[in-house]
Amino acid sequence: MAGESQKWILMATARAPTNIAVIKYWGKRDENLILPINDSISITLDPDHLSATTTVAVSPSFEKDRMWLNGKEIPLSGGRYQNCLRELRSRAGDFEDENRGIQIKKEGWNKLHFHIASYNNFPTAAGLASSAAGFACLVFSLAKLMNVKEELGQLSAIARQGSGSACRSLYGGFVKWTMGNEMSGRDSKAVQLANETHWEDLIIIVAVVSSRQKETSSTSGMRESVETSSLIQHRAKVVVPSRILQMEEAIRNRNFSSFARLTCADSNQFHAVCLDTSPPIFYMNDTSHRHDFCHRYLFIWRFKGKTQVAYTFDAGPNAVLIAPNRKVASSLLQRLLFYFPPGPDNELNSYILGDKTILQEAGIESLNHIEALKPPPEAKDKVPSQRFAGDVSYFICTRSGKGPEVLMEEEHALISSQTGLPK
Ligand code: ADE
Repeated sequence: MAGESQKWILMATARAPTNIAVIKYWGKRDENLILPINDSISITLDPDHLSATTTVAVSPSFEKDRMWLNGKEIPLSGGRYQNCLRELRSRAGDFEDENRGIQIKKEGWNKLHFHIASYNNFPTAAGLASSAAGFACLVFSLAKLMNVKEELGQLSAIARQGSGSACRSLYGGFVKWTMGNEMSGRDSKAVQLANETHWEDLIIIVAVVSSRQKETSSTSGMRESVETSSLIQHRAKVVVPSRILQMEEAIRNRNFSSFARLTCADSNQFHAVCLDTSPPIFYMNDTSHRHDFCHRYLFIWRFKGKTQVAYTFDAGPNAVLIAPNRKVASSLLQRLLFYFPPGPDNELNSYILGDKTILQEAGIESLNHIEALKPPPEAKDKVPSQRFAGDVSYFICTRSGKGPEVLMEEEHALISSQTGLPK
């Protein structure tokens, strides 16, 4: 199996994006295989702003599988990691590097161990689907290292076994996770609806909302909804199938009005299912609802009869706002900064992350500019112009982005090729 030297270390590094669902995944029909009760659709977010980078290394000198997440060693014993590793090992191909005298036969991978180091370019605790980027990246980088000759769709079905929504992060642009029918889960995988260049005008602003209370994990929340909500059955069988078709059409035709209507309606219904769960689950907090108080004025802000901004909330308090173009995005950002200015300890540079050019287009170059913002015209006489400083931790301005990619340069590797340990 190995060359005469036991010292070699082989490595692969990849980067994978996170995604935000516009038709939500909520509820499993198989907990172990992670098979959903409905299809879902997401937008892949620009990996420059939200992504995981993972280096996987293999060496005959490694004694067991080990993983470090953001520099801290974490156990790999969980079923989700084990399922992904098992599926990939069973599909591994032969590997040979004549120059280095390394030869690994297909079956040889079962006897070798991995060191895995992963790093998220955004706070893991921010509730931004880090496990979606993380498992997509883990599967993509291991498939590269082990010479797995499967299509992206089959890799997505493996990533799904790590974290359901991870399957959608195997593609860029607009992605559908088809629930599938087979017991094995082979057909429960992602398909790309359109790539990241299809609808480049869309701008996505994520408001990361500080949350004090521990949220119900998606896994237990979904289980409780499936066990106790009657609305979830109606949603999965009647509402989502027709919404999926309408959403595919809206994306195909870049019809923002329809896209926004469906996105907001689906987020609302997902949270309605959470309320219909016993005991009820509240993912949105006061700040989320404050975003909602802008609802009438802002998110379903109509201009010449057209919906201008869509919102969607996942299993947490963060708001994800989607604008049809930069012009609307910059006036949206002005309004958001009026209602949610930074707290006393913030700097502008760390309050707006991602694509900062939108901030410039909004004419905001300093904290003083935020202080001086006037109440939005549509708010006049309708709501008190109250401001909620510090309720939003920060905003991330982003767009739809590409799928996973291998990073070839040694400088991207998170593991030392000398020691086999995180750099
Ligand atoms: N969970 C959260 N982030 C992750 C990552 N980068 N890799 C694996 N699992 C994760």
